[in-house]
Amino acid sequence: MTTAPNDAALAEAVYSRTLVEWANRALATDTTDGTARAALEACRHIAAAVTDEQGRLQSLLDTTRISAELRPASNGADQINALEAVVGSFDEARRFGDAAETAGYRRWEPWTGAARESFRRMSQVLTVAKPGDVTTVLNIRWTSASKLQQLPAVFRPNDADWRAVDLPSALWPLYFVTRPLRLVAERLRLRNRVEEGQLGPFLSTPASLLDALFEFAEIGPTDHVIDIGCGDGRLVIEAARRRGCRSTGIDSDPELVATARERVADAMLASQVTILEGDGETTDLNSATVVLLFLPADVTARMVPKLLSQLAPGVRIVAHEQHRISCPVSPDQTEVLLGADSVTVAHRWSVDATS
Ligand SMILES: C[S@@+](CC[C@H](N)C(=O)[O-])C[C@H]1O[C@@H](n2cnc3c(N)ncnc32)[C@H](O)[C@@H]1O
Repeated sequence: MTTAPNDAALAEAVYSRTLVEWANRALATDTTDGTARAALEACRHIAAAVTDEQGRLQSLLDTTRISAELRPASNGADQINALEAVVGSFDEARRFGDAAETAGYRRWEPWTGAARESFRRMSQVLTVAKPGDVTTVLNIRWTSASKLQQLPAVFRPNDADWRAVDLPSALWPLYFVTRPLRLVAERLRLRNRVEEGQLGPFLSTPASLLDALFEFAEIGPTDHVIDIGCGDGRLVIEAARRRGCRSTGIDSDPELVATARERVADAMLASQVTILEGDGETTDLNSATVVLLFLPADVTARMVPKLLSQLAPGVRIVAHEQHRISCPVSPDQTEVLLGADSVTVAHRWSVDATS
């Protein structure tokens, strides 16, 4: 990794949600430290945006007569646009989720049918996110954990069970039977383990980070940039517009694909930008010179080694996340990117001839 020592400490401050403390320490020794000033400015904007959003959500709670404890996310509200709410019951959480949807939030529910019902009841948190220049995440928890949620982990259905069979909603309790059957089948090797489906929810890369991200990725006019999980298409559209490259976005969500295609048409970039609907894990990436990833840290950590072994020498893989990406292959470069109202840590891997 070629991270400068200062950048490594800065990245640690982002991961541990202590960026404000880091910046204040840096300014105590050098009042002109531009990075520390930029970090404080970004944190100030984030905290203000979270407070504004808290006010809007509180009005929503008041009008829907749901009683909730609403607060900035406990894991670093001045660094991430996230709030959390605690309500009394699962039904209240669901009602708050529905109300939030009318206010522009989207649910993060990777499943359908019975798997969705089971996921809702087991996860103990309902997550919704509001896309915008910066995405705001709201986690709604409920205090009255049902008897089901108190079951020891080994009895609780999980991703693998929901993936195993597709049932109508009303049959969600059958996942309790699916679990032992699946475990036995796997032990006896009666079924394949299939890894497929959802890589992560839609959270958009903040607009204020785009130039820094493209600079970090060294995107130029001769590049073909592919964004795996392109969401509303902002990265591929802006990369084409600002850096003159060709770009392709892939997303598995048909609604987001339609939005991204509309945005490409509105930007009159159809000759440079293609949006594909499909699974980013199985799409052919052979023509890419730059692959962009903004996915959950564990997904990126899993995908990067695979991409490094598949892609041609010289291809850059650039990922960003506020959480630490514990990838078995260290990046060639890591840099904290500070926008006017957002923060992230970007990493770059280059495929070399020996990968
Ligand atoms: C965090 S968003 C990133 C959006 C965009 N790249 C950006 O940075 O603004 C992740 C995206 O991955 C998409 N996604 C999830 N699973 C996928 C899959 N298997 N194949 C393609 N896209 C997927 C989601 O629909 C979502 O839009």
